[in-house]
Amino acid sequence: MTTNPQKRIVSVVSPKGGVGKTTVAANLAAAVAAAGRGVLLIDLDPQNAARLHHQMPLSDGAGLAVQTLLRQPWANAAFRGPYGVDCLPFGALTDHDRRVFEHELDANPQWLRQNIEALGLNPGSIVIVDTAPGGTPYLPQALQASDIGMCVLLPDAASFVTLPAMARWYAEAAQTNPSLRGFYVLNRMNNARLLCRDVGTALSRDLGDSLLPVEINFDSAVEEALASQSPILKYAPESPASRDFAALANWLVNLP
Ligand SMILES: Nc1ncnc2c1ncn2[C@@H]1O[C@H](COP(=O)(O)OP(=O)(O)O)[C@@H](O)[C@H]1O
Ligand SMILES: [Mg+2]
Repeated sequence: MTTNPQKRIVSVVSPKGGVGKTTVAANLAAAVAAAGRGVLLIDLDPQNAARLHHQMPLSDGAGLAVQTLLRQPWANAAFRGPYGVDCLPFGALTDHDRRVFEHELDANPQWLRQNIEALGLNPGSIVIVDTAPGGTPYLPQALQASDIGMCVLLPDAASFVTLPAMARWYAEAAQTNPSLRGFYVLNRMNNARLLCRDVGTALSRDLGDSLLPVEINFDSAVEEALASQSPILKYAPESPASRDFAALANWLVNLP
């Protein structure tokens, strides 16, 4: 181990949509920047929504998918958001171009890793990759490039059903990427609800140390922050979710 901060690539993943991957990726990136670390937020989801947390205009279609098809460097599509996060949007593709693009991903499992390498980031940078749900070519690409997988779970029964699929994706990726460590984080937690507490307890029993010690509380300010195109840390710094994202950033930057 070294005392110098190491480059760290974190993929925010889930078998399901709508669990908060983009919310976690975009807000964790802001919290990492607020903690003084260089951070790059990469959007690997054709929904192209991560940029909206960092004030990229809705009409701007630039992004890594477009750069890839044009054989142009990714860095040309990156922008520095107002909260200190470097953002690389997915970009806007037609349905046809998206199929061509996904075909390229299928042909080269190391595509994301190679493109991140080509960016020549500083050694201490943290890269956070937002992903499309499982069953798409994006999830295996992200896990292949990452040293940390962060699967977002909701405190409900449906999340339990997805655990075996996620464990399989982690295990498959680890065969060719042995440095991958797969974690799970609870989002939209509400300790006032018995069901949430029960699910939290059961997950902690089943997942052990791979369930993060930090959970993100349900907080209506999260949606309000997105509506104002800001990370919650800027929109409502004293809110419960802001404290949770700061704690999650702290966990990440101090992870051995
Ligand atoms: N901790 C939270 N508290 C309240 N709302 C949340 C929280 N996390 C996510 N949301 C909301 O849940 C919805 C889905 O989140 P999103 O990040 O788009 O999910 P995904 O990227 O997994 O599809 C969004 O409306 C988002 O604002
Ligand atoms: Mg998303």
